[in-house]
Amino acid sequence: MLKQLQAAYNGKRVFLTGHTGFKGSWILKVLSLLGAEIQGYSLSPEFEYNLYNLINGDSLNDSIIADIRNKEGLKKAIIDFQPDFIFHLAAQPLVRLSYQIPSETFEVNAVGTANVLDAVRYLNKPCQLIIITTDKVYHNQEWEHPYKETDRLGGYDPYSASKACAELVIDSYRNSFFNPSNYNEHGKAIAVTRAGNVIGGGDWAKDRLIPDIVRALSQQQEVSIRNPNAVRPWQHVLEPVVGYLILGEKLLNSPLLYSSAYNFGPHLDDAMPVSAMVNLAIKAWGGGNFKNTSAEHQPHEAGLLKLDINKASIELGWNPKYNAQTAIDKTIAWYKNYVTHPGEVINFTENQVKDFISA
Ligand SMILES: NC(=O)c1ccc[n+]([C@@H]2O[C@H](COP(=O)([O-])OP(=O)(O)OC[C@H]3O[C@@H](n4cnc5c(N)ncnc54)[C@H](O)[C@@H]3O)[C@@H](O)[C@H]2O)c1
Repeated sequence: MLKQLQAAYNGKRVFLTGHTGFKGSWILKVLSLLGAEIQGYSLSPEFEYNLYNLINGDSLNDSIIADIRNKEGLKKAIIDFQPDFIFHLAAQPLVRLSYQIPSETFEVNAVGTANVLDAVRYLNKPCQLIIITTDKVYHNQEWEHPYKETDRLGGYDPYSASKACAELVIDSYRNSFFNPSNYNEHGKAIAVTRAGNVIGGGDWAKDRLIPDIVRALSQQQEVSIRNPNAVRPWQHVLEPVVGYLILGEKLLNSPLLYSSAYNFGPHLDDAMPVSAMVNLAIKAWGGGNFKNTSAEHQPHEAGLLKLDINKASIELGWNPKYNAQTAIDKTIAWYKNYVTHPGEVINFTENQVKDFISA
């Protein structure tokens, strides 16, 4: 996998939105190890503790701190940089926060995506775009069966709906301005990625399971769990990150074959209830307890969500490497190392990346 990715990204110009976030910092680290020249574009890291600063993200890219809603600034950044690839991750990514700031969530996630695509209309060179949405774009009917890329899109909460809107925006730009049938004229190919919940070291977002668990356990407190029975497709953050990079490499070599949507998720038996994940995390930490704090009047969140990953497996040759147990072990090992040896974060993170991509 390493050689394949190096051949695609070494020396290439990659424009990365959302580079200061959790997933963005991991992809930044991987791309820098692959020898890419990276321009980041996002807001400043949100939390006092953040992976971006811990891995010295500023040394890995030319970082622009700006809003994706600043259409002209974004366009100038993209045109000036002349990217070979764009990975668009910048978003308001939280379901519960989207109930508090719904219109802002739509602006950042749907209009922000249109701003990226609009800027690309003025880019006079070939460029591969990989746009990150989510598994929550599927019209969730609480089905037992896993969602396929051809299933209907929709969204109950503002976050899910904003990402489903982004997919409509992408489809429209793909048809109207970057139509695959005219690829030789415009040179742009666009793929969409729909990943499930990810876990890994360095996430400190509010209302996410692993950060909540680590915050509680490191202070010897009980972990409060809101939706213990909700089933989610958990995976280590490096799984989709490497999936996005493989998809970019495929687009580079055969743009017409791969400009569509791909699910990235774990094998089906690793889609498990929140309570089972918490138990695995507590065991990996070495002890602790959790309590169910579900209240009656919580904002609606999907209860059952599984993903069919056959398309990525068959067409991209991408398959999950870690099962849920390994994903949790790697994640908890990262946080424990951070607590006990904070000065080793860069090496520890780099070794986790190298272990993952070299095998
Ligand atoms: N973490 C998950 O479990 C998960 C699951 C599925 C999809 N996703 C998607 O992956 C992407 C990255 O998520 P994450 O978990 O790293 O989130 P994160 O909150 O850690 O990072 C979000 C990034 O977007 C940037 N951003 C937010 N608003 C912006 C704005 N107005 N202008 C410019 N930049 C802005 C932030 O600065 C940050 O760099 C998002 O698109 C998210 O929807 C995440």
